[in-house]
Amino acid sequence: MKNNKHLSIINAPFNVDYSNGDIKGKNVLNISNKLKDLPNVFENEAAFLKLNGETIVYDVQAVLPVKEGVEDGLFYGKTTIHPGKVGAEYFMTKGHFQQKKTKAEFYWGIQGEGILILMDKDRNTWAEKMFPGSLHYINGGIAHRTVNTGTIPLSFGACWPSDAGHNYQDIIDNGFSFCLMEIHGKPQLIASNK
Ligand code: PA5
Repeated sequence: MKNNKHLSIINAPFNVDYSNGDIKGKNVLNISNKLKDLPNVFENEAAFLKLNGETIVYDVQAVLPVKEGVEDGLFYGKTTIHPGKVGAEYFMTKGHFQQKKTKAEFYWGIQGEGILILMDKDRNTWAEKMFPGSLHYINGGIAHRTVNTGTIPLSFGACWPSDAGHNYQDIIDNGFSFCLMEIHGKPQLIASNK
């Protein structure tokens, strides 16, 4: 052999358990969102107040290899929404627009079943079924919220630009135009009263 110099081959810095999407590795961010962290999110305030505020609604893991706001990076995340309801409304995420409306995002289903609710700036709403293997492209400027309509945790992956940002305020102020309720045992989108 002419040149016996070699480079070392290192382990992957992160690994993903594809049965539930769990991410393992250094500096993986873990955030739990409890019912008490989601005031004014669900339609039925009386039903919300009867539940234990310490109940975890969803857990988020994220790999943030660069600083938030940096233009040329990507973030990777996994969300797990636990099964449950507030009145007839399924457990779901807060939902948000991207801070930068030109930035898109991918979601993909890993475990469980659910629905991705999408809403444009004019409050037109549509929804896509989520299941293991489903793939969802969320264009910039489209608000997105995920809902667990099943009896086991709904886990899904996400990948988004590091400068997309999360704008929660529009949803805090105006909500989504439709919410997802269980009616006669089936998920149905109905106009929000908020
Ligand atoms: O970046 C994303 O879109 C996801 O990682 C979400 O932040 C995650 O699903 C939690 O939802 P929300 O940010 O609306 O609470």
